[in-house]
Amino acid sequence: MQGENIELRPVTFKDAEILFNWRKDFYTQKNSFSENDIIWEEHELWLKRKLQDPNCFMFICMLQGSAIGKLQIDVVERIGNIGFVVAPEARRKGYGAKIIGLAAKAVQKEVDILIGLVKSNNIASQKCFLKNDYTCFTGGDTHVYIKSI
Ligand SMILES: CC(C)(COP(=O)(O)OP(=O)(O)OC[C@H]1O[C@@H](n2cnc3c(N)ncnc32)[C@H](O)[C@@H]1OP(=O)(O)O)[C@@H](O)C(=O)NCCC(=O)NCCS
Repeated sequence: MQGENIELRPVTFKDAEILFNWRKDFYTQKNSFSENDIIWEEHELWLKRKLQDPNCFMFICMLQGSAIGKLQIDVVERIGNIGFVVAPEARRKGYGAKIIGLAAKAVQKEVDILIGLVKSNNIASQKCFLKNDYTCFTGGDTHVYIKSI
Protein backbone atom coordinates (compact mmCIF):
# COMPACT_ATOMS: atom_id res chain seq x y z
CA MET A 1 0.00 0.00 0.00
CA GLN A 2 1.37 3.43 -0.88
CA GLY A 3 2.76 5.32 2.11
CA GLU A 4 2.79 2.15 4.20
CA ASN A 5 6.46 1.33 3.67
CA ILE A 6 8.28 0.69 6.91
CA GLU A 7 11.95 1.61 6.91
CA LEU A 8 14.67 0.50 9.29
CA ARG A 9 17.25 2.84 10.77
CA PRO A 10 19.94 1.81 13.26
CA VAL A 11 19.19 2.43 16.93
CA THR A 12 21.26 5.16 18.64
CA PHE A 13 21.57 6.08 22.27
CA LYS A 14 19.00 8.85 21.66
CA ASP A 15 16.40 6.07 21.35
CA ALA A 16 16.95 5.00 24.96
CA GLU A 17 13.71 6.55 26.23
CA ILE A 18 11.37 5.22 23.56
CA LEU A 19 12.91 1.75 23.89
CA PHE A 20 12.48 1.93 27.66
CA ASN A 21 8.82 2.87 27.31
CA TRP A 22 8.16 0.00 24.88
CA ARG A 23 10.02 -2.43 27.14
CA LYS A 24 7.91 -1.33 30.13
CA ASP A 25 4.67 -1.86 28.23
CA PHE A 26 2.51 -4.51 29.90
CA TYR A 27 2.26 -6.84 26.89
CA THR A 28 5.93 -6.52 25.98
CA GLN A 29 6.84 -7.46 29.53
CA LYS A 30 4.33 -10.32 29.63
CA ASN A 31 5.61 -11.77 26.36
CA SER A 32 9.28 -11.40 27.19
CA PHE A 33 11.30 -14.40 28.41
CA SER A 34 12.75 -12.17 31.14
CA GLU A 35 9.51 -10.91 32.63
CA ASN A 36 11.17 -9.05 35.51
CA ASP A 37 10.60 -5.33 35.81
CA ILE A 38 13.50 -3.16 34.72
CA ILE A 39 14.75 0.20 35.92
CA TRP A 40 16.12 3.04 33.82
CA GLU A 41 19.75 2.65 34.97
CA GLU A 42 19.75 -1.05 33.99
CA HIS A 43 18.17 -0.21 30.66
CA GLU A 44 20.86 2.40 29.89
CA LEU A 45 23.61 -0.12 30.65
CA TRP A 46 21.88 -2.74 28.51
CA LEU A 47 21.57 -0.33 25.57
CA LYS A 48 25.21 0.83 25.84
CA ARG A 49 26.31 -2.81 25.80
CA LYS A 50 24.12 -3.68 22.84
CA LEU A 51 25.28 -0.67 20.81
CA GLN A 52 28.88 -1.82 21.25
CA ASP A 53 28.13 -5.43 20.41
CA PRO A 54 29.11 -6.21 16.79
CA ASN A 55 26.77 -9.20 16.82
CA CYS A 56 23.68 -7.18 17.70
CA PHE A 57 21.73 -5.48 14.90
CA MET A 58 19.07 -3.23 16.31
CA PHE A 59 16.76 -0.99 14.31
CA ILE A 60 13.98 1.48 14.87
CA CYS A 61 11.13 0.85 12.44
CA MET A 62 10.02 4.13 10.89
CA LEU A 63 6.73 4.80 9.17
CA GLN A 64 6.04 8.21 7.69
CA GLY A 65 8.48 9.86 10.09
CA SER A 66 7.21 8.11 13.22
CA ALA A 67 8.95 5.40 15.23
CA ILE A 68 6.53 2.47 15.29
CA GLY A 69 8.68 -0.37 16.56
CA LYS A 70 11.98 -2.10 17.15
CA LEU A 71 13.61 -5.00 15.34
CA GLN A 72 16.59 -6.64 17.05
CA ILE A 73 18.64 -9.50 15.69
CA ASP A 74 21.36 -11.06 17.83
CA VAL A 75 23.74 -13.19 15.79
CA VAL A 76 25.66 -16.25 16.97
CA GLU A 77 27.48 -18.36 14.38
CA ARG A 78 25.40 -16.98 11.50
CA ILE A 79 22.11 -17.72 13.27
CA GLY A 80 20.07 -14.58 13.92
CA ASN A 81 17.71 -14.54 16.89
CA ILE A 82 14.87 -12.07 16.30
CA GLY A 83 13.26 -9.85 18.89
CA PHE A 84 10.64 -7.28 17.92
CA VAL A 85 8.10 -4.95 19.38
CA VAL A 86 5.45 -2.71 17.86
CA ALA A 87 4.63 0.52 19.70
CA PRO A 88 1.41 0.00 21.69
CA GLU A 89 -0.48 2.66 19.70
CA ALA A 90 0.55 1.07 16.37
CA ARG A 91 -0.48 -2.53 17.09
CA ARG A 92 -3.02 -4.61 15.13
CA LYS A 93 -2.42 -2.75 11.88
CA GLY A 94 -0.26 -5.38 10.22
CA TYR A 95 3.06 -3.74 11.07
CA GLY A 96 4.41 -6.62 13.16
CA ALA A 97 4.19 -9.03 10.23
CA LYS A 98 5.78 -6.43 7.93
CA ILE A 99 8.66 -5.88 10.36
CA ILE A 100 9.44 -9.61 10.45
CA GLY A 101 9.41 -9.48 6.66
CA LEU A 102 12.25 -6.91 6.77
CA ALA A 103 14.57 -8.99 8.95
CA ALA A 104 16.16 -11.13 6.21
CA LYS A 105 17.32 -8.17 4.14
CA ALA A 106 18.60 -6.32 7.20
CA VAL A 107 21.13 -9.04 8.09
CA GLN A 108 21.52 -11.01 4.88
CA LYS A 109 25.33 -10.62 4.91
CA GLU A 110 25.71 -11.83 8.49
CA VAL A 111 23.06 -14.54 8.81
CA ASP A 112 22.07 -17.85 7.16
CA ILE A 113 19.19 -18.78 9.46
CA LEU A 114 16.71 -16.60 11.32
CA ILE A 115 14.92 -17.83 14.41
CA GLY A 116 12.25 -16.45 16.69
CA LEU A 117 11.43 -17.80 20.14
CA VAL A 118 7.83 -17.05 21.05
CA LYS A 119 5.76 -17.88 24.10
CA SER A 120 2.94 -20.29 23.30
CA ASN A 121 0.30 -17.75 24.36
CA ASN A 122 1.69 -14.94 22.17
CA ILE A 123 -0.64 -15.50 19.23
CA ALA A 124 0.09 -12.14 17.58
CA SER A 125 3.83 -12.80 17.39
CA GLN A 126 3.29 -16.37 16.16
CA LYS A 127 1.12 -15.09 13.32
CA CYS A 128 3.80 -12.56 12.34
CA PHE A 129 6.31 -15.38 11.80
CA LEU A 130 3.85 -17.70 10.06
CA LYS A 131 2.81 -14.95 7.64
CA ASN A 132 6.47 -14.74 6.60
CA ASP A 133 6.76 -18.48 5.92
CA TYR A 134 8.77 -19.44 9.00
CA THR A 135 8.55 -23.10 10.03
CA CYS A 136 7.23 -23.67 13.53
CA PHE A 137 8.56 -26.19 16.05
CA THR A 138 6.69 -26.38 19.31
CA GLY A 139 8.23 -27.38 22.59
CA GLY A 140 6.11 -26.86 25.68
CA ASP A 141 5.66 -23.20 26.48
CA THR A 142 7.92 -22.01 23.65
CA HIS A 143 7.35 -21.98 19.91
CA VAL A 144 10.48 -21.83 17.77
CA TYR A 145 10.17 -20.25 14.31
CA ILE A 146 12.93 -20.91 11.80
CA LYS A 147 13.71 -19.75 8.27
CA SER A 148 16.75 -20.13 6.04
CA ILE A 149 17.64 -16.96 4.14
C1 LIG B 1 3.62 -9.21 18.78
C2 LIG B 1 3.48 -7.83 18.13
C3 LIG B 1 4.86 -7.36 17.69
C4 LIG B 1 2.54 -7.95 16.94
O1 LIG B 1 2.53 -6.73 16.26
P1 LIG B 1 1.22 -6.19 15.50
O2 LIG B 1 1.64 -5.08 14.63
O3 LIG B 1 0.16 -5.92 16.50
O4 LIG B 1 0.84 -7.48 14.64
P2 LIG B 1 -0.02 -7.51 13.31
O5 LIG B 1 -0.95 -6.34 13.28
O6 LIG B 1 0.94 -7.69 12.16
O7 LIG B 1 -0.88 -8.81 13.53
C5 LIG B 1 -0.45 -10.10 13.19
C6 LIG B 1 -1.61 -11.04 13.44
O8 LIG B 1 -1.80 -11.17 14.86
C7 LIG B 1 -3.14 -10.81 15.20
N1 LIG B 1 -3.09 -10.14 16.48
C8 LIG B 1 -2.53 -8.93 16.76
N2 LIG B 1 -2.65 -8.67 18.08
C9 LIG B 1 -3.31 -9.72 18.62
C10 LIG B 1 -3.72 -10.04 19.94
N3 LIG B 1 -3.47 -9.21 20.95
N4 LIG B 1 -4.38 -11.22 20.13
C11 LIG B 1 -4.59 -12.07 19.11
N5 LIG B 1 -4.21 -11.83 17.83
C12 LIG B 1 -3.58 -10.66 17.60
C13 LIG B 1 -3.60 -9.90 14.09
O9 LIG B 1 -5.00 -9.87 14.00
C14 LIG B 1 -2.94 -10.54 12.88
O10 LIG B 1 -3.62 -11.70 12.50
P3 LIG B 1 -4.64 -11.73 11.26
O11 LIG B 1 -3.90 -11.18 10.09
O12 LIG B 1 -4.98 -13.18 11.17
O13 LIG B 1 -5.76 -10.86 11.65
C15 LIG B 1 2.89 -6.77 19.11
O14 LIG B 1 1.68 -7.27 19.61
C16 LIG B 1 3.82 -6.46 20.27
O15 LIG B 1 4.66 -5.59 20.17
N6 LIG B 1 3.64 -7.21 21.40
C17 LIG B 1 4.49 -7.03 22.58
C18 LIG B 1 5.93 -7.47 22.31
C19 LIG B 1 6.02 -8.88 21.76
O16 LIG B 1 5.24 -9.74 22.08
N7 LIG B 1 7.04 -9.07 20.90
C20 LIG B 1 7.32 -10.36 20.31
C21 LIG B 1 8.11 -11.22 21.23
S1 LIG B 1 8.42 -12.82 20.49
